[in-house]
Order: sequence, then structure tokens, then C-alpha cells
Amino acid sequence: MDRYLVFGHPVRHSKSPFIHTLFARQTQQELEYGLAEPAVDEFAQALRTFFDQGGKGCNVTVPFKEQAFALVDRLSPRAKRAGAVNTIKLTNDGVLLGDNTDGAGLVADLKSHGVTLADSRILLLGAGGAARGALAPLLAELPSELVIANRTHTKAQQLAAEFHDLGPVTAQTYEQLAGPFDLVINSTSASLQGELPPLAPALIHTDIAIYDMMYGASDTAFISWAKQHGARQTMDGLGMLVEQAAEAFTVWRGIRPGTKQVLRELKRNLGVI
Ligand code: ATR
Repeated sequence: MDRYLVFGHPVRHSKSPFIHTLFARQTQQELEYGLAEPAVDEFAQALRTFFDQGGKGCNVTVPFKEQAFALVDRLSPRAKRAGAVNTIKLTNDGVLLGDNTDGAGLVADLKSHGVTLADSRILLLGAGGAARGALAPLLAELPSELVIANRTHTKAQQLAAEFHDLGPVTAQTYEQLAGPFDLVINSTSASLQGELPPLAPALIHTDIAIYDMMYGASDTAFISWAKQHGARQTMDGLGMLVEQAAEAFTVWRGIRPGTKQVLRELKRNLGVI
């Protein structure tokens, strides 16, 4: 049976095996999907061993995405832009192809929530790996403006300069931000510590869409905060998780699974509904 897995550390609580097992059942594909948690300095060896032993493809998550970028034989254009690899496929001619489906997953999830990206003013919080992966797919949707704000302003400036050729992207400090924005995407890891990015509450209004790439069994700190200040449409990163997985599954198997039912089952599994 074709074998896939996700590499991460820690990875025990990953939902990827659950999601891909449901995708495989739905599309009647015969495959198995597992977990691997190598030590941080043993990832390269573990990856090699997996493919030497017949593995067909894998996902790569924190903290291995940049290492994977350096280790594959060939990169897709979107992985090159993202500077990170979250999906690897062994091609028929034995080449390890590195791809990145995170940004596509974000855009697919935003669209599935009915969020309009064309001609919209988007605020992207954070300038780390998650922000970098989102930029090209967001700019491809032709927003009127995309502003990056980051605690360390120089990192936002660097990112804006790097993606400037793809669309109207600028960097501003949190203090400089002036609304109205149509969509705020939180790509910072602040919610992991229960912290908030230092965003002025005045930027939140009833018609704004709020997206936090993080997720949990209850609202993230950022989503609670946005709701308190009047945001009516809030979304967490669970949908993005399922959509990036669907995109990876499509890369591997050439068949696109449906995501709605899988997202519902995942929410039930997490105790969210
Ligand atoms: P990832 O790969 O998930 O993007 P990362 O590359 O470590 O992770 O980036 C984390 C991002 O969250 C950074 O933009 C970081 O800001 P700095 O560049 O200033 O470090 C941001 N971040 C983390 N904690 C934050 C907090 N409490 N408030 C605001 N931004 C925060």
C-alpha cells in the first residue's frame, strides 16, 4: 500500500493522519498515512530513509519546513516563493519534488467562507514563515492593497520588498496602521502564548473579516479580542489546515477530495461542535 506521513516535532497531536485517512476513504484511494517525529538534527536522515523504504510522499511541519526546502531535488514555484516546503512528492522518475500548499489552503478557506479578496484592503499581521507562505497566493487574488505589520518592523519591510513585484504590498508599523481594512489575517504565533498582536481596537468594525491562522478547541485570544470589539465574521485556521491537506492530497494522487464533510468531522473530533 502507498505510504505517506507527516514529519514534525512535536507531531503527536497532528490532525493530518485523520484528515488524509478521510480523504482516502472518500476518493477510494488505497494509502496509509502516519506520523514521524525525528530529533531536529535527524530529519534529513529520516526523510532519506522514508523514501528509500518506498514512501510516496510526505507533509512537513514545524520545525522542518526550511530544512525540507533545502533537501528536495526540485521546488515548485510556490515553494520557491514561500521559502519553505510542507509537501514532498516522489515523482515517477524518482525526483523529490518540494511544494508548499499552505498559502493555497488559506486562500481556499477564505473563499469557502465567502470572503472577497479582489479589490479588498488586507492587513497581514506577522512577518514569519506563515506570512511569507501566504503572500504570493493572496496577491494573486488582486487585492487593492496588502499591508504587512510586524512587531519587528524591519522584517515586514524585507517581506514587502521581496514580494513587491507581485502586487501592491507595503509594510507599516502597528502604530501607523489606518483603516478601514476589509480583512485582517493574523499569521503571528502570539495566540500560542495567549498573547495579542498590538493592534488598535479602532481598526475593528462590524463588516471586517478576521482570520487567525491558529486554532484551538475554543476561540483563539485574537478571535475573542476581535469579537469583543465588534467583528462579526471571525475564522480560525482549522479550515486552512484541511484545505492545505486537500491541496497536498491532490498533488500526490491527482484527485481533489472534498473538504466540507472532512472539516465537519474534524471539528467533531476536536470537540468544537
Ligand atoms: P511562523 O513560521 O509560524 O510564522 P515565526 O517565523 O517564528 O513563526 O514567526 C512568528 C511571527 O509572530 C513573527 O512575525 C513574530 O514577530 P517578530 O518578528 O517580531 O518576532 C510574531 N509574534 C510572535 N509573538 C508575537 C506577539 N506576542 N505579538 C506580536 N507578534 C508576535
